[in-house]
Amino acid sequence: MDISAIKQRFDIIGDNHALNRAIDIAVQVAGTDLSVLVTGESGVGKEVFPQIIHTNSPRKHNQYFAVNCGAIPEGTIDSELFGHEKGSFTGAYETRKGYFEVADGGTLFLDEVAELPLSTQVRLLRVLQSGEFIKVGSSKVQKTDVRVIAATNINIPRAIESGKFREDLYYRLNTVPIFVPPLRERKEDIYLLFKKFALDFADKYKMPTIRLSPDAVHLLELYRWPGNIRQLKSIAEQISIIEPKREIGGEVLKKYIPEEGPSHLPVRIDGHGNDYMTDRDIIFKVLYQLRQEIEELKTGIKNQKDSQTGPVIANHEGEVIEERAVVDYDEDAEITSEKGDQQDFSIQNMSAGFIKKALEKHNGKRKAAAAELGISERTLYRKIKELQLDI
Ligand SMILES: Nc1ncnc2c1ncn2[C@@H]1O[C@H](COP(=O)(O)OP(=O)(O)OP(=O)(O)O)[C@@H](O)[C@H]1O
Ligand SMILES: [Mg+2]
Repeated sequence: MDISAIKQRFDIIGDNHALNRAIDIAVQVAGTDLSVLVTGESGVGKEVFPQIIHTNSPRKHNQYFAVNCGAIPEGTIDSELFGHEKGSFTGAYETRKGYFEVADGGTLFLDEVAELPLSTQVRLLRVLQSGEFIKVGSSKVQKTDVRVIAATNINIPRAIESGKFREDLYYRLNTVPIFVPPLRERKEDIYLLFKKFALDFADKYKMPTIRLSPDAVHLLELYRWPGNIRQLKSIAEQISIIEPKREIGGEVLKKYIPEEGPSHLPVRIDGHGNDYMTDRDIIFKVLYQLRQEIEELKTGIKNQKDSQTGPVIANHEGEVIEERAVVDYDEDAEITSEKGDQQDFSIQNMSAGFIKKALEKHNGKRKAAAAELGISERTLYRKIKELQLDI
């Protein structure tokens, strides 16, 4: 299948050289069983690549599963991926098959793979190397034949440096790298994409299609698009719904494009309906991020201390639960400090407000809210639970 046929089939807009190259690699490797790692910033369009590969592979008539590793709580991720035996933990009433078992003969897409806990990374490396895995609570080695495609928007070499990702797993997953370029490096595609989204939303909302003036097109192409195609799509949708006049000039478009500032503060305060961030919010956001960094530091120090004293933390069955233990420690530490520290506690309250606001803004979509807050989806789940937010 040639590239233009793929684009048509998968609704991919754009003719950028790096994008074409990424599609070309996907087609070339589809016929093999090699592992593929799709990388690129958030919102660039990574999720279509595993589908291109699967549907062009000899496995196309078998199962395809996409698993968002960031959305599954740490405590159940091993069971989701590898299955569990009845009675292996509280609540395991039945033996359950995991994705590696049900996808036998097919393809498994591990999205947000860098979110996997280190203990799960070990299991994943094993199944990639030997096709062998063991259900949680079992001692029986099982075989499977699954082709793995993974994706991430984080810089894995940096995650390796900070001890969050295993280097051996990275090399195993990254047998074939596919890099999806950011939108700002695909300037020629920006207007094409906008036009396509404008048509789609006109159709969806049964309204005339919005059109951009030349100065608006220029503005669109100058902007850096930190949220990439997802952000462009969302702006096209907002304008399609809100603007009564269907000819959009630069001045109108400006209301929808956040001003360029320091990258960690996506701020726009102008009273035009886009004024989501007030001064107070900005301070909260900075405090929230600071708190996250302190938490990470705490975990880092604890990890270092552990590796110096060389502990082996295991449960009663002798199964090593080192990573879990570190997380528990961290959470305990947090609770103690909150009880005794008024300032800490107030930051906690601010976090709750901030999380609620981010969720409201993104219509309850946790993924988008987590991205806005600069935390992982899993951390967001944990925070919602921890703060007992009624969402
Ligand atoms: N070339 C394209 N043509 C049309 N739409 C696209 C294209 N690339 C991406 N999109 C759309 O952009 C949105 C974001 O894409 P996607 O969900 O694949 O992002 P991602 O790279 O997985 O981001 P994240 O790392 O945040 O998960 C989707 O709605 C997708 O349909
Ligand atoms: Mg994605």
